[in-house]
Amino acid sequence: MTKQRHAAALEKAKQAVEANRARCAEAPWRPVYHIAAPCGWINDPNGFCYYDGAYHLFYQYHPYSAGWGPMHWGHVRSKDLTEWEECPIALAPGEAYDVDGCFSGSALEKDGKLYVMYTGHVDLPVKGPGACDRVESQCLAVSADGLRFEKLAANPVIAKPPEGDIHPGHFRDPKIWRMGGKYYCVVGSRTKDEHGQALLFASDDIKRWEFVNVMASGDGDVGFMWECPSFERAGETDILICSPQGMRPRGKQYLNLHQSGYMLGKLDEERGVFSHGPFALLDYGFDFYAPQTMTDPNGRILMIGWMDMWESEMPEQADGWAGVMSTPRELAVRDGKLLSTPARELRRLRGARVSHANVAISAPRSLAGIQGDCFELEAVFDLQDAKSLTLKCRVSDREETVMVYDRSSQTLKLNRDRAGKGPKGEREAPATLKDGCVKLHLFADRSSLEIFINDGEAVMSARVYPQTDAIGVEFSADGTAMLKSAEFYTLG
Ligand code: FRU
Repeated sequence: MTKQRHAAALEKAKQAVEANRARCAEAPWRPVYHIAAPCGWINDPNGFCYYDGAYHLFYQYHPYSAGWGPMHWGHVRSKDLTEWEECPIALAPGEAYDVDGCFSGSALEKDGKLYVMYTGHVDLPVKGPGACDRVESQCLAVSADGLRFEKLAANPVIAKPPEGDIHPGHFRDPKIWRMGGKYYCVVGSRTKDEHGQALLFASDDIKRWEFVNVMASGDGDVGFMWECPSFERAGETDILICSPQGMRPRGKQYLNLHQSGYMLGKLDEERGVFSHGPFALLDYGFDFYAPQTMTDPNGRILMIGWMDMWESEMPEQADGWAGVMSTPRELAVRDGKLLSTPARELRRLRGARVSHANVAISAPRSLAGIQGDCFELEAVFDLQDAKSLTLKCRVSDREETVMVYDRSSQTLKLNRDRAGKGPKGEREAPATLKDGCVKLHLFADRSSLEIFINDGEAVMSARVYPQTDAIGVEFSADGTAMLKSAEFYTLG
């Protein structure tokens, strides 16, 4: 029965996509090189993996409208992380254990087959304050070709959260990996009094799981719930990534509704204890959530996040779609920090190069050949005697997205108050001067901007919604700075 029911639900979803695809394809804010669904709503990346000669990325998907609804898993794959091929929808909800959604999860190859582990979500009628409003369990689906998935008859494979100081309802987003001949899985959770934590499970066969321990917890100041944990081993250092809900703003940090960050440390998988340093952000912009990581066949750790934020205004919804993924990023541990740089494959998107060198910057100016709505710009500035430096992009006479580098605080501010439609505000990231210089590496796509600072020291991601005529790029400084080098490429 499960098989037929699943096939029918997938067919229905496919028809909804076909009915709306053409309308969305024409929409002005559709990305050129970022992953987005053909129509409808997407959120978290899921099941990021390498299988059968290609990278696969799944995503939380509601194909029936541009708003969140019972979650399906959309699916794309790529040989080079730049050209993504749309694949059939992989999962649709409909079983007793996932009737209200196939929530986030991950993927792993075993015996030549691709397994995905996801959270089956069921809403319960709420019975007053404090009542548990949901059942969340961990489920498996398997595919022999990486395209068509069957849910296991044994689902759910982890039916409920373990006993202890563990919330009975909020138990989701399994990330599975293999280590030392065993399978491990970390699941997002919260304590009964609402502190985020991550739970570690182990298995010999990927199907029967045992709870090992509460692997890490936030002691109250890292939010009330950890969503979408991810784990990677980078040589001697282990990385735990999570997306805490509800961290309180601290100065100019944590201004988004929810955060995504990491802790570096060491996992003792026998005891299930992750000893770790402090929580640090993965992205200092407005829009980056629920990232997922994978180690690829070359040993690189890659990460993709959802480049949006819960409850933010999304002007593209008026056009029948919502949500994009970030560029794929490479992660590396250096000097106790996790550096994020754009995946090197993105260079394949480059069109003709425009270069400038040693340009004095003071009054606002543009540079020949540097403009557009879909580009990469790598610029190294020597601050010289300038107090601050301003780089604007997506500029028209009405609109601009503004980056200001402030020398005294060594921070970069990103302001989208005049960026166009959609949400406004300012975010700030650390940007240390090195030999008097700062390097900004920008990736713009029709409705997004990602800024990589100083080769991975910090990243800022934002959705912006300018008109199509806002293509200017402008440089200025308070004092005189030197643009040592600028490499610009139109991307497509
Ligand atoms: C994170 C999240 C996950 C959940 C999914 C539902 O953005 O809330 O915890 O699995 O989205 O779509």
